[in-house]
Amino acid sequence: GNSMQGKHVLTWLDYTQSEISRLLAQAQYVKENPYTQSLKGKNLGMIFEKSSTRTRVSFEVGMVQMGGHALYLNSRDIQIGRGETIADTAQVLSGYVDALMFRTTSHEKLKELAEHASVPVINGLCDIYHPCQALADIFTILELKGRLEGLKIVYIGDGNNVAHSLMILSAMMGMEVVISTPEGYEPDGEITGKAQAIAKTYGGAVLLEADPKKAVEGADVIYTDVWTSMGQESETSVRLKAFNGYQVNQSLLKAAEADAVFLHCLPAHRGEEVTAEVIDGKQSAVFQQAENRMHVQKAILQATIGW
Ligand code: CP
Ligand code: NVA
Repeated sequence: GNSMQGKHVLTWLDYTQSEISRLLAQAQYVKENPYTQSLKGKNLGMIFEKSSTRTRVSFEVGMVQMGGHALYLNSRDIQIGRGETIADTAQVLSGYVDALMFRTTSHEKLKELAEHASVPVINGLCDIYHPCQALADIFTILELKGRLEGLKIVYIGDGNNVAHSLMILSAMMGMEVVISTPEGYEPDGEITGKAQAIAKTYGGAVLLEADPKKAVEGADVIYTDVWTSMGQESETSVRLKAFNGYQVNQSLLKAAEADAVFLHCLPAHRGEEVTAEVIDGKQSAVFQQAENRMHVQKAILQATIGW
């Protein structure tokens, strides 16, 4: 038994630093020992309302590596797409599978699925959080830097789902987090407040600094994400203008620590939020980061389904 068994993973706000440390240690273990029968005969149902490369493949391969199985359920193909309620879907699927993963347009739907499911529900990205991504990010930083506490991580760009989860988890691990966005694209105020409260508990800090050059001073990690997230395509041209000056390029990278690491959750748009020179350069760890999605998610699955 463990404290996470049967628990949902909707946001890391529901978790403690010791639970996260335990997940990180387990992720390290499964990375070194990938093939097990630890979830033999277990099934993960994965409901997608949006596109995915990493989330879909890493969850599916991760389950198979542990002796289990995963089902890809596109929301357009299952009855949800024809109006069957999330509550009914949750109860039906709970009778078949041992855990559910949901990538959705709204956190409300995720909460509804979790409320009615009798198996753990894992957030595979919603409008305000991307917890699996943040765990992989933190895990990657720990691998590269050997510690988390006291490191400075700077997120440049849109105050979106990825920024929110990164901010929460970095604060929980005692890091200094700086979020640099144009006016009007700041992270959600309530989530920022919660991350600041977490930082207070664990000795970290969460700050907003609109000037990216100032923000990256002394940074150990520079992170960015796309300016236009899935579902915001109609705002693309407005956003391209608004984010002018927030590109992570060589000159911005030079303003950080000499050994600063560049991270991006991917998919990336070279020439927009990051230059090819930076993302394909020697300080970039984006593919290690992408691979780590699988290792941390295997740890999450083991912990929530039961190890
Ligand atoms: N980073 C991430 O979640 O990628 P996908 O959209 O490809 O799953
Ligand atoms: N912020 C991006 C992340 C994609 C993995 C989006 O929501 O589209």
